[in-house]
Amino acid sequence: MLAPESGAQLREAVQNIHRFFVELVAARRAAPGPDLLTALIAARDEEDRLSEDELVSLAFLILLAGSENTQHLISGGLYTLLRHPEQLAALRDDPALMPNAIEEILRYALPNQTAIRRFPTTHLDIDGVRIPAGDTVLLGLASAHRDPDRYPEPDRFDIRRADPSHLALGHGMHYCLGAPLARMQIDLALTTLIRRFPGLGLAVPETELPWRTTFRSHALKRLPVLVGPPAA
Ligand code: HEM
Repeated sequence: MLAPESGAQLREAVQNIHRFFVELVAARRAAPGPDLLTALIAARDEEDRLSEDELVSLAFLILLAGSENTQHLISGGLYTLLRHPEQLAALRDDPALMPNAIEEILRYALPNQTAIRRFPTTHLDIDGVRIPAGDTVLLGLASAHRDPDRYPEPDRFDIRRADPSHLALGHGMHYCLGAPLARMQIDLALTTLIRRFPGLGLAVPETELPWRTTFRSHALKRLPVLVGPPAA
């Protein structure tokens, strides 16, 4: 995925993706198919449940949220497991640990440092801090996920953690639409890699791993690994 170094590159990339979806929506409208975009167009055209802008931005969101987040969780999850070889070995021996391991990866290795912006509709007073209506609020997911009042030893990665539930996929009415798909993709990717390549390891020293860090996100740009011989 493009890693824009400048605002101009970012704007151009966003405009290109926007244009791509405007054209794709026009094409699917002319020739409907058995796909999600066609269903969204029907919700717009036949049921009037979406505006044209909402239709294009939802398609954009599904592409973006559905690819980058999941890629980062797979690379971040694998990296975290490689740093905890005893837990990697436990997962290889007992794949039934994977569902809980995925929740712990979402808590511990989530690249997103904050949630999507919120705007309170009324004044809020929280712990003596007044947040005026309409102000931008950025919730700190990274700190919530390491809250010692919620998680015993929060800095410890533990695939057997009891109740590792988290906010990585949101909460409430905007809970992630792709949550089951994301969990399935992470499961398939990690289970397959772990099972097929028992000699899996980092291909570069940890200090040379390429991170992309902004105040919103801390994610691996790439995770170079040595796979070793496949399992017999
Ligand atoms: C591990 C990967 C993923 C993470 C961490 C993630 C995270 C999130 C979060 C935190 C939200 C809530 C945003 C908010 O609070 O307003 C969200 C919403 C959403 N996600 Fe995901 N997501 C992931 C994968 C996916 C996938 C695979 C798809 C689609 C194929 C997807 C599509 C969406 C959409 C459309 C929404 C908006 C839902 C709404 O506003 O009603 N996400 N995601």
